[in-house]
Amino acid sequence: MSNKPFAESCEQNKQPILQVLKKAFSEPGKVLEVGSGTGQHAVFFAQQMEHLQWFPTDIEEALPGIQLWIKEAGNERIKAPVVLDVNIEIWPFRNMDYAYTANTVHIVSWSEVKSMFRGVSQALKSGGIFCQYGPINYNGQYTSPSNEHFDQWLKNRDPDSGIRDFEDLVLLAKENNMILYTDFEMPANNHILAWQKR
Ligand SMILES: C[S@@+](CC[C@H](N)C(=O)[O-])C[C@H]1O[C@@H](n2cnc3c(N)ncnc32)[C@H](O)[C@@H]1O
Repeated sequence: MSNKPFAESCEQNKQPILQVLKKAFSEPGKVLEVGSGTGQHAVFFAQQMEHLQWFPTDIEEALPGIQLWIKEAGNERIKAPVVLDVNIEIWPFRNMDYAYTANTVHIVSWSEVKSMFRGVSQALKSGGIFCQYGPINYNGQYTSPSNEHFDQWLKNRDPDSGIRDFEDLVLLAKENNMILYTDFEMPANNHILAWQKR
């Protein structure tokens, strides 16, 4: 189908992310995706992991594009996308086994990251796993010159965005009843931080 939105980055990172999700999301269950973007990840991961039901979400303007991908996939385990702005107080999801987000935590403001962790924790059941993919700083340090360059680019575009510190995320997770499950190193100086709800 033509006119589907397309992100080259999703093509490049989907295989390494899949290998981690197969470990972190190993049991049958429901996955809430925050900030699904084009919808490429939702379709690919759900097709590759037959034990999962995938629930894509994003802000309203992203939904038509995600719908195009999902309609074309025609897979009943990939649910219709739902409008979910991380800022809303009460999230329309409960009792989810897993949550996933890619390349959103450095895009939204820190206040929105806080809202995301609060909402994800609300949506997950006890023991549920939240995988967060993207670049991360450790002890206030960039992990590569390219990440430093990327952070400058992000901040020139939106001063409230930027690569987050691992230590701040650990504290935020703790405030929301989640602990670090595993920190997976990924290609191109990215990480997947997997959090587990208590
Ligand atoms: C860089 S894109 C990443 C998209 C996709 N996950 C990927 O990896 O290609 C950032 C995403 O965050 C979403 N986003 C921005 N602000 C948001 C908010 N307040 N609530 C939920 N999603 C938001 C955007 O619509 C966009 O889909």
